[in-house]
Amino acid sequence: MAQYEASPVTVQKALRALAAQGMVESRPGVGTFVRPGRLARISDYGWQTGALGSPQTPIPQVSTALRTAPNDAIALHSGYPDRDLLPERLVRAAFTRAARSDATVSRPPAAGLPELQAWFATELGAAAPLGTAPPTPGDAIVLPGSQSGLNAAFRAVVGAGRPLLMESPTYWGAILAAAQAGVQIVPVPSGVGGPNPDELTRAFERTGARALYAQPNFANPTGAQWPPDLADQVLETVRHYGAFLIEDDWAHDFGIAAEVAPLAARDDGGHVIYLRSLTKSVSPSVRVAGIVARGPARGRILAHVQADSLYVSGLLQAVALDVVTQPAWRTHLRSLRQQLAARRDLLIEALRAQAPAANVEAVPRGGLNLWVRLPEATDLARLMGACEAAGVLVAPGDEWFPAEPTGPFLRLNYSGPNPGAFSEGAKVIGEALGRGNTT
Ligand SMILES: Cc1ncc(COP(=O)(O)O)c(C=O)c1O
Repeated sequence: MAQYEASPVTVQKALRALAAQGMVESRPGVGTFVRPGRLARISDYGWQTGALGSPQTPIPQVSTALRTAPNDAIALHSGYPDRDLLPERLVRAAFTRAARSDATVSRPPAAGLPELQAWFATELGAAAPLGTAPPTPGDAIVLPGSQSGLNAAFRAVVGAGRPLLMESPTYWGAILAAAQAGVQIVPVPSGVGGPNPDELTRAFERTGARALYAQPNFANPTGAQWPPDLADQVLETVRHYGAFLIEDDWAHDFGIAAEVAPLAARDDGGHVIYLRSLTKSVSPSVRVAGIVARGPARGRILAHVQADSLYVSGLLQAVALDVVTQPAWRTHLRSLRQQLAARRDLLIEALRAQAPAANVEAVPRGGLNLWVRLPEATDLARLMGACEAAGVLVAPGDEWFPAEPTGPFLRLNYSGPNPGAFSEGAKVIGEALGRGNTT
C-alpha cells in the first residue's frame, strides 16, 4: 500500500485552517488540542425588533451582480471582469515592490498619496480643452472604491430628504447608496441614447434639485455613450440650474470602439464631481478609486469620506499607482480593448443565433455589458430561475431601475469567465424564452 506522508508545511497549513475554524487550539510549547464541541443553542433575537423599529429605507437584497457563481456555472450576471482580462503580472509585481516599501507600515495622508492624487488629476486634466483650467492634485481624493465616493457625494452635495436626479435605468449601487443616504431619488428617463434632455430640464424645474448622478460614458447597464451635443446640453442645463453633475466614469478603461471623454474635463467651474474607478480594470482586490471635485464641495466630500473610512490603505494605493504608471499598463489596455470587442461580438452573435427573441438594444461602444430587452410578457423571475436551473446566471434588469421598470430586461456581462460557453448560455436563455416563461 502506498504511504502518504504530509510535509510539515502541509500539516501546518491544515492546522492553521482548523484553528481558524475554532476546531483545534494550539498551546505554544505544549501541543495542539481538539477543542471540545460546544452545545448549539437556539438564540432568540426577537427583542431587536422593538429596539430597531421599522427600517427607514428598504433593506436591500444582495445584488445579483455580486452573487458568487458556482465553478461550473455560465456566469453572465457578474459585474467584474474575469482574471484573464486583468493585468495580473503587473499587479503581482506591484504587490512585491509595495511589500518591500514603507507602505506596509505607514499611514498615508487622509486625501491619499500625493502621487496618486496627482495621477487622477493629470489624467482628467489631459482631456481638458484649451482654455479650460485642468484640476490640481489637491482637487483629488483617493477612495476605497468609487461606491464609497457615491455615498459621500450624495450625502455631501444633496443630503437627506433632498432631491437627486438619476437616469433610469442606472447603476443599482448608486440607487442603493442614494437610498441609504436618505436622498429623494427623482428618475429621469434614459436609455441607450442617454437621458432625455427635455425631461431633465423639466425634472430640475419641477423639483429644484441641485444634483444629477449620471454615467455619460458606457453607462451601466445600457452601454450608452452620450453624443457630444447631448453632453453639451446636459452641462449647460446643470450650469443653468446652479447644480452639480456627479459623473461616474466607472468604465474609463473599457473603451472598445470609442475613447472616453469625461464631461468633468470640460468644466472648471466646480459643477462636475468626477468619480474614476480602478477596481475593475486593475484588480477587484486593489479597490481604489479617485474623486475630483473643486471648491467647497471638495471639502465637504472629504469630511464624509473620512467619517466613512478615514483613509485608504497605503499599500493598495501604492500598488494601484505602480500598475497605472507602468508602460506595460498602456499595452495591457490596448489588448483589453480587442478582447472586449471579441467577447462582446461573440455574445451578440450567440444571442442572435440562439435567442432571437432577446433583443440587444444597441451594440455598446465600450463597457462590459449588453442591455437586452425581452418580450413584453416575460416573467423575469421565472426566466432567471429556469436559466439558473440549467446552470446559467443572468442579471434581471429590474435591479437597475430606480422606479418601475419600463419592460423586462436582462443585463448580460461579456467579461466573465469562459467566453467559450457564451453560445451555450445564449441557447439556455433562448430555450427558457421559448418555453414561455411569461406572466
Ligand atoms: C457604474 C458603477 N459605478 C460604481 C461602481 C463601484 O465601483 P468600485 O468597485 O470602484 O466601488 C460600479 C461597480 O460595479 C459601477 O458599475
